[in-house]
Amino acid sequence: MTTTSGTEAVPSADDSVSRPRTLGTLLRLHPYVKGSYTRLTLGIVDAIIGALVALAIPVVLSWIVDGPLTTNDSAQIFPAVGLIAALGVLEALLIALRRWLVLKPGTHVDGAMRKAIHNHLQQLPLAFHDKWQSGQLLSRAMSDISTVRRWISFGFVMLTVNVITIVAGFAMLFFWNPLMGAVFTACSLPMLFFGVRFELRYFTLSRSAQDQAGDVATNVEESVHGIRVLKAFGRSTFALDGFSARAKRLRVTETSKGVVIGNFTLGLTVLEALAYAFSLIAGIYLVSTGNITVGVLFAFFTTAAVLRWPLDSIGFLLQLTIDARTALDRFFEVIDEPVGVEESTHPIDLPAASGSLVFEDVSFRFADALEGTRPLLHNLSLEVRPGETMAVVGLTGSGKTTLTGLTTRLYDVTAGRILVDGVDIRDARLADLRSRVAMAFEDATLFSMSVRENVLLGRPDLVFPEGEAEQVAADHLVTQAINIAQADFVYSLPDGLETKIGEEGLSLSGGQRQRLALARAIVTEPAVLVLDDPLSALDVTTEQQVEAALRRVLATTTALIVAHRPSTVMLADRVAVLHEGRIADVGTHTELLARSALYRHIISSESDEPHVIPDVTAENETVIAAGTEALGEVDGSDGIRGVQP
Ligand SMILES: Nc1ncnc2c1ncn2[C@@H]1O[C@H](COP(=O)(O)OP(=O)(O)OP(=O)(O)O)[C@@H](O)[C@H]1O
Ligand SMILES: [Mg+2]
Repeated sequence: MTTTSGTEAVPSADDSVSRPRTLGTLLRLHPYVKGSYTRLTLGIVDAIIGALVALAIPVVLSWIVDGPLTTNDSAQIFPAVGLIAALGVLEALLIALRRWLVLKPGTHVDGAMRKAIHNHLQQLPLAFHDKWQSGQLLSRAMSDISTVRRWISFGFVMLTVNVITIVAGFAMLFFWNPLMGAVFTACSLPMLFFGVRFELRYFTLSRSAQDQAGDVATNVEESVHGIRVLKAFGRSTFALDGFSARAKRLRVTETSKGVVIGNFTLGLTVLEALAYAFSLIAGIYLVSTGNITVGVLFAFFTTAAVLRWPLDSIGFLLQLTIDARTALDRFFEVIDEPVGVEESTHPIDLPAASGSLVFEDVSFRFADALEGTRPLLHNLSLEVRPGETMAVVGLTGSGKTTLTGLTTRLYDVTAGRILVDGVDIRDARLADLRSRVAMAFEDATLFSMSVRENVLLGRPDLVFPEGEAEQVAADHLVTQAINIAQADFVYSLPDGLETKIGEEGLSLSGGQRQRLALARAIVTEPAVLVLDDPLSALDVTTEQQVEAALRRVLATTTALIVAHRPSTVMLADRVAVLHEGRIADVGTHTELLARSALYRHIISSESDEPHVIPDVTAENETVIAAGTEALGEVDGSDGIRGVQP
């Protein structure tokens, strides 16, 4: 997760000129809000009643001023004051009720969106994850969704209510006196212009700030994740500098946001003050000429005072709305990413497991591979027979890991097909395929949960078995897998199998993690076991012990094992040599040693032990030539492990 910077997705200033379609984006929230419409509507109705109650207070006040106050009728003053107090209490109760009503929809939408993005991230192809920074995904799944939640439970409701209050309030101002109403409205109209200008400017900044927050998250994630390397190389200041630079960029953008909001609020406040001032001049004139009563003047300004918060808050609510819109854009950018590896629309049931694995004319190229280069794998054919253990060897970077990933559809082939038990894996259900084929990777990732849960990752049904018999069976499976993987060290951990492993298993050694990952693959009792150099971090003795135990499992299980060491190759019935995107040769270790200079070269270059440089005989000179040519190419780019001159 390194290459794509979130800022690349930031719309440029030019983009912002094309008016953002905020409504269209917000409407896309429908699937997540649909269970909450009733409460949201009730919340809005409640808030509107509250606003009307607030607007009723000036009516009562005007009646008091023009009636009992003028006539000094104390018998009527007290009930009228009581009525105003009752209206105030009612308004407060309605506000409390609104908060209660809209709290649930906000959290509900929040939960639904988080679930959706998490599910989608799980389904997105590895190619997507290769390209996207983790911090960008983290900020989209966390802070952006929180922004949307705040908007649903506050911004959206208050914006709707305030717009209705403003329309009703302005109508009342005209009702009290058309001239004063017109003056007030004329002074307020430029607010619309300010509003549009604000939206255009704020939109770009809001999006940039969210993207930059994602970059900061990526930076934190990388420096925490890579803390050992950074410390070891004394590059903590380098990490800090990177963080400071990104944080500074975010601060500058946030400051610009603040300036834009400040200017907008200033404009609104000045216009509002002007509206009050000019309508007061008009009002005093009208009272002095006897056109209106003092009570009406009083009521006019009390109504205008009720409008003050809705007018003042428009800027803030618009800001929340735009923040929610840009947050939603970022959310949907992930949700709209097509699921590369799709479930077949007409899935075929896999037949009873025999454990055959066949690559037929398979080609594969990474989506972001350089144009004009040949596919990483091309027209590759290989048959692993049921129960057979096939080792795959090849120079570093030849595509062995990629080849193993194709078997469980971490990536899909670009041409040709892969058959498991005779079925094209794209026609099988993903869940079926992945329970039939289990993988262990060289860099064994563990999760921050117990050893037992980590081992049972592929068998969640066994984590909390229902009956006692199931419990015994589950325990037996786990113990057996741990035994085969020589992972007995888990029993000496503080809580044995129940010990919680630290994040990504970093509290364990590389070899310990690899053995747990191997146990995880074995425990699923797959028909096909695919192991990508799973023993690379083990010492020779432990490796031999694992191999001896593994041999018993491999006697009945079909296996494809990427091997670097001759000792791992020895486990295999046959060995396939991957070279320049194809299988250059297949045979037993002894056959290949005898006939393939390329094989001898690969095996010797991968071996940790001293070795003899291949004896170039007339018939394998060409293979050697091809091999060394390739070595030159690879060596130039990323080097070859232990290659001898
Ligand atoms: N996501 C990716 N996008 C583009 N190219 C990639 C990607 N992942 C791997 N590659 C390239 O594909 C080639 C094969 O990688 P792969 O990891 O399959 O090699 P390998 O044979 O397993 O090597 P090693 O022996 O070092 O483990 C490499 O050149 C690598 O740079
Ligand atoms: Mg590899």
